[in-house]
Amino acid sequence: MTLLGHSIPDPGIVGDGPRAVPPATPAGGTKDLLAISDVSCSQIFRLFRIARELKATPRPGPASQWLSGLTLGLLFEKPSTRTRVSFEAGMHQLGGQALFLPSDTIQLSRGESLGDTALVLSRYLDGLVIRTFEQAKLEEWARHATIPVINGLTDLCHPCQALADLFTLMEVKGSFADDAFEGLKLAYVGDGNNVANSLIEAGAKVGMHVAIGCPPQYQPDPGILERSREEAGRTGATIEIVHDPAVAAENADALYTDVWTSMGQEYEQIERLKALAPYQLNERLLHRAKPTAIALHCLPAHRGEEITAAVLDGPQSVVLQQAENRLHVQKAILTEWLGRP
Ligand code: CP
Ligand code: NVA
Repeated sequence: MTLLGHSIPDPGIVGDGPRAVPPATPAGGTKDLLAISDVSCSQIFRLFRIARELKATPRPGPASQWLSGLTLGLLFEKPSTRTRVSFEAGMHQLGGQALFLPSDTIQLSRGESLGDTALVLSRYLDGLVIRTFEQAKLEEWARHATIPVINGLTDLCHPCQALADLFTLMEVKGSFADDAFEGLKLAYVGDGNNVANSLIEAGAKVGMHVAIGCPPQYQPDPGILERSREEAGRTGATIEIVHDPAVAAENADALYTDVWTSMGQEYEQIERLKALAPYQLNERLLHRAKPTAIALHCLPAHRGEEITAAVLDGPQSVVLQQAENRLHVQKAILTEWLGRP
């Protein structure tokens, strides 16, 4: 290819896209982060070590140029506060930049194919965070894109959230050792949704006890349960599904809940409110857990529905620390998946 009479290499022909250095995928890791199944237990601990280092490093600091010259796209089909802003701020703090691409503002909304969009964006960007509905659609993006694709939430799972949640649990418990989760019990009460699914998968990887208290009609995904139980057999984790929230909460180190009506389920709201009412995270339920237990919620929360204000804003709640940790853990993810140029 020539430009103004000079012969210049076309990086596109060799499929490298615009970057000078190929993405440094984590050793033994996958191109994409679509679910917790894409990371091993040792990679999780490696991410936590990087996140801890980044959290402790004043800004601007040595990490301020790690992703210099790199651009992250955020292609979102659903609203977001934390995921969007923490990825955007994280990218800036690492010297790169982020582009927010709401799906209704790009040609995708006028019928351009997913495949064409993924291939074109791969020529401009160094990574893509996608928030969408079906996991299969996220997987299709990842198949077409030649750059790393990171799950920013699907109907099935929310892996970045679960990683930040486990990091928060480690921080609160004060142990970053490889056996930090052994003997810990995380109880999740409410809807067996995307957040619950990723917590189950992550807990199984790190050897934790995970108890889910949910109604029979709102159980976690059977495929995720099956692969997590297999994983648990190797790591010493236990995955328990019960329908009595008090049984789930018994002696827990952490009590977690999420909204009863996730994005895209608004048409089911009335029946969900009814079925999930006995699963509210309130002070009575918190008393079933250990006195030192923490209360977690991925946010946004509905005070008076899935969680009471007394718990969410109470002394055992660590929800703001949890939300902040999205930033630190995702910065670690970006350095691992987008690489350091
Ligand atoms: N917890 C979470 O993912 O929040 P947002 O929907 O605001 O991104
Ligand atoms: N389960 C919620 C999580 C929001 C962060 C949803 O999918 O809407």
